[in-house]
Amino acid sequence: MSITEISRLDAQARAILKENDRGGYTVPTKGLYPFQWNWDSALVALGYAAFDTGRAWREIETLLEGQWGNGMVPHIIFWRDDAGYFPGPGEWDTRRSPPTSGITQPPVVATVMRRLFARSGPPDPGRLDAMLKAIDRWHQWFADARDPNGTGLVAIVHPWESGRDNLPDWDHPMSYVDISKVGTYQRRDTQHIDAGQRPAKTDYDRYMALVQFGRSHGWDDKKLADHSPFWVADVGTNAILRRAEHDLAWLAERAGETAIAERARLRGANLARGFDGLWSEKLGGYVSMDLRRGRLAEALTAGSWLALYAGEGDPARIARMAGLLEQWLEPVGFGLPSFDPGHPLFDPILYWRGPVWAIINRLVADGLTRAGLTKLAERIRADTEALIRKAGFYEYFNPVTAEGGGGDSFSWTAAMWLDWASPTADKIGGLEV
Ligand code: DGY
Repeated sequence: MSITEISRLDAQARAILKENDRGGYTVPTKGLYPFQWNWDSALVALGYAAFDTGRAWREIETLLEGQWGNGMVPHIIFWRDDAGYFPGPGEWDTRRSPPTSGITQPPVVATVMRRLFARSGPPDPGRLDAMLKAIDRWHQWFADARDPNGTGLVAIVHPWESGRDNLPDWDHPMSYVDISKVGTYQRRDTQHIDAGQRPAKTDYDRYMALVQFGRSHGWDDKKLADHSPFWVADVGTNAILRRAEHDLAWLAERAGETAIAERARLRGANLARGFDGLWSEKLGGYVSMDLRRGRLAEALTAGSWLALYAGEGDPARIARMAGLLEQWLEPVGFGLPSFDPGHPLFDPILYWRGPVWAIINRLVADGLTRAGLTKLAERIRADTEALIRKAGFYEYFNPVTAEGGGGDSFSWTAAMWLDWASPTADKIGGLEV
């Protein structure tokens, strides 16, 4: 790629973040997602860090401003009204100010903060301490509310909490969700995006049934733990939380917050023990588990390789996962597909059932680097670079044709470009520096 083309894309990525900036928080993309989303914001902070560190820290602060009294950081903060999105604040009915959804999302924040800190030092000390305390409370909430029996695996109560909404992993556990009382509602996503690229109506009915379930139980943690029809250990969320505890301990140590560091280490050790239960010897990788039925998912997803990002240490398992990754990359032009390209449910343009996502690539590549698999990590980065160059800053990409799918001018794709995929990005190793 020529220097001119690189600087054109770098400039375009910065412009996307600025366009999607609503003053302290960034929308994932205009139209389709008009509010502040949890893991989008955290990852977008990495993009700002490439040109405005102050703005990067601010993105994280506004996200943490939505934190609930019980410690949960919600998946959406509705800072302003927007009738173009469904389900809005009225459907969630969480009675908060600012209004928020009633569920969370993968807690990638501590890992992002570690990178900001390692690159450019802390924001002023009072601010860092406040952020670390908020994250400690959020992680503790995961342990208490989502793993009340201390098994070392945290549950999600809605596929939206995984951030990987329509993965085939959820098909079986979601088949138990009763949709007979859902009633009628008006979807908004398919007014912005071609319906063939969005979750199916039966998926959506179940998403709404789970929202109605949470609302009718007042979003009470104990009631959700005891009765939520969907109670699943997502391999992605568990890997991301495990890594986040490690990075929280690192940050807290540097900030002199030794009690937080100690709690993070203990929680992290428990998560490492629990994670082992997600190993599928049959598939040769880690998968999600329906905790209500003790049943492992039947296929690998891109999230399976987040085990390396989480800190997998078993050389035999790492070798097996590396071999499988190479097999996955063979039939597609561009890695990493979000779902097994050899599986009958693989669909190269349907959201989380096949397309490539720059953010997953970024996290998986970090894990590959950590495991010493630097050639594979570079392959994933180069593929991400090629996809963005060919298609633009789309929400996700077709791994076979390289065409873009979902929303355009997408903030986290722009952020991943600036942080990592661009040949000019400052990528000294993995996310830790
Ligand atoms: C949506 O609305 O599609 C989101 O993924 C939910 O967070």
